[in-house]
Amino acid sequence: MGIESKIEELLKKRKEARLGGGEKRIEAQHGKGKMIARERLQLLLDEGSFEEFDMFVHHRTVGFGLEKQQYLSDGVVTGYGTIDGRLVYVFSQDFTVFGGSLSEMYAQKIVKIMEKAMKVGAPVIGINDSGGARIQEGVKSLGGYADVFQQNILASGVIPQISAILGPCAGGAVYSPALTDFTIMAKKTSYMFVTGPKVVKTVTGETVTTEELGGAQVHATKSGVTHFAAEDEEEALLLIRKLLSYLPQNNLEDPPVKICNDPIDRLEDSLNSIIPDNPTKPYDVKDVIAAIVDNEEFLEVQRQYAPNIVCGFATFNGNSVGIVANQPNYLAGVLDINASRKAARFVRFCDAFNIPLITLVDVPGFLPGTKQEYGGIITHGAKLLFAYGEATVPKITIILRKAYGGAYDVMSSKHLRGDINYAWPGAEIAVMGPKGAVEVLFSKELKAIKDEEEKARFIKEKEDEYKEKFANPYVAAKYGYIDDVIEPRNTRFRIIRALQMLATKKDHNPPKKHSNLPL
Ligand code: HXC
Repeated sequence: MGIESKIEELLKKRKEARLGGGEKRIEAQHGKGKMIARERLQLLLDEGSFEEFDMFVHHRTVGFGLEKQQYLSDGVVTGYGTIDGRLVYVFSQDFTVFGGSLSEMYAQKIVKIMEKAMKVGAPVIGINDSGGARIQEGVKSLGGYADVFQQNILASGVIPQISAILGPCAGGAVYSPALTDFTIMAKKTSYMFVTGPKVVKTVTGETVTTEELGGAQVHATKSGVTHFAAEDEEEALLLIRKLLSYLPQNNLEDPPVKICNDPIDRLEDSLNSIIPDNPTKPYDVKDVIAAIVDNEEFLEVQRQYAPNIVCGFATFNGNSVGIVANQPNYLAGVLDINASRKAARFVRFCDAFNIPLITLVDVPGFLPGTKQEYGGIITHGAKLLFAYGEATVPKITIILRKAYGGAYDVMSSKHLRGDINYAWPGAEIAVMGPKGAVEVLFSKELKAIKDEEEKARFIKEKEDEYKEKFANPYVAAKYGYIDDVIEPRNTRFRIIRALQMLATKKDHNPPKKHSNLPL
């Protein structure tokens, strides 16, 4: 065979590989409003940057007629490319080949790119669209899954790992995305569950649809399993590009610095009056975030889950930060189980990847009640406490209004190695709110007063006294727990200065195998 015919053979094989499970199945995939594996990569990666590995891999299983069904690439497309010019490794499951089900060789392809990504220090993005373990391969496919899980675990905290769910992701297949840093689901076309509706019906008698059990909306609001619910595949893939723009390539690098044309000394007068006079009146902390970050741009993570705490990425003078903010607009910004878990994971991600933390505090405390106590708020609240206390990245905290009780400690206080702790002039830092404090401190006196009017007067007087004494930032400032009380409109400028000052910060934790985070 001459070289020309050899090249022809190569091109023929490439064409065959690109056809995946064949035209009919590609049509069926498009008919469901879904793209095929390589189309997704085209959208995700910079134009022309994709280099594919292992196009000619195929399975080596016999039985169930599988020996007669061979598809080049074996159901997953792997390789590398760039996003905004930065290297990423990718795998994209091909539903047109055995329903994207995972085989031994398929798993090996994923492991190969993950190992390379670890060596080189670049993120891995996995696009999931699969019927799970390839049934005909039995334990080989189960082993393949575990091989991928092991890579996910080793890569955790070393390189960013992002999962897009653009189709089925069921059974053990859900655990690879769950081990990664961020999960993005496309609405209507994707679902994730450990067992599907049929098994649920058999085991629990519950009738539930696929969407109700594991659709994007469910995981974005109820379980918190997904960090983003995109309107469609395209939005999901573009969101990954945006997310990566805030992240470093690996844990040894700093995040990329963006060009900033928003003046660093921009004063935001609106902030001086954003906090209502009435301490029980809510406001939207996202307005504060928008006012202080570069160009009002904020990429919120888990927007619909535990909205009483807001987490997300932004930049100050072009430098990436992770923002954690109590949200007075929802449940008064109280810390509960879900909010603690959500923020703890976010804080740990930022710390692992050298992203400074900005914490905006307005928190009335932890949510009381049997539901929370039985659910383990003690352990879950401790996660957030642990995450902040363990974090060694620059930590800047601004107390906007309330910082009560244990929540004061937890929310990146000075005592948890907060680097810069500022408070706005209306901040109230105390063991508890005035109402609760007066009830505890003067319970005997209150019982003795029979006249209701007199009682109300007494309460008001004592509350005012308490507020004057404790519910202000100056007691904390007196002890150096607050570095300065700042004018709200200066907040952007003060944060940028603090970030510049902390740019070379080095801190460390004692040597250990790993900590024992209260899981
Ligand atoms: C082999 C599979 C497959 C699988 C689908 N296919 N799942 N082949 N192993 N797991 C094949 C089908 O035979 C079909 O082949 C093609 O993929 C498309 O499947 P359809 O059923 O026609 O598609 P659709 O109607 O869209 O339904 C998709 C689906 C369904 C919901 C994913 O296929 C399904 O329920 N599959 C089984 C899911 C499952 O139980 N997987 C095992 C989970 S347990 P043709 O030739 O007709 O195109 C697991 C354990 C992992 O994953 C443990 C790790 C620790």
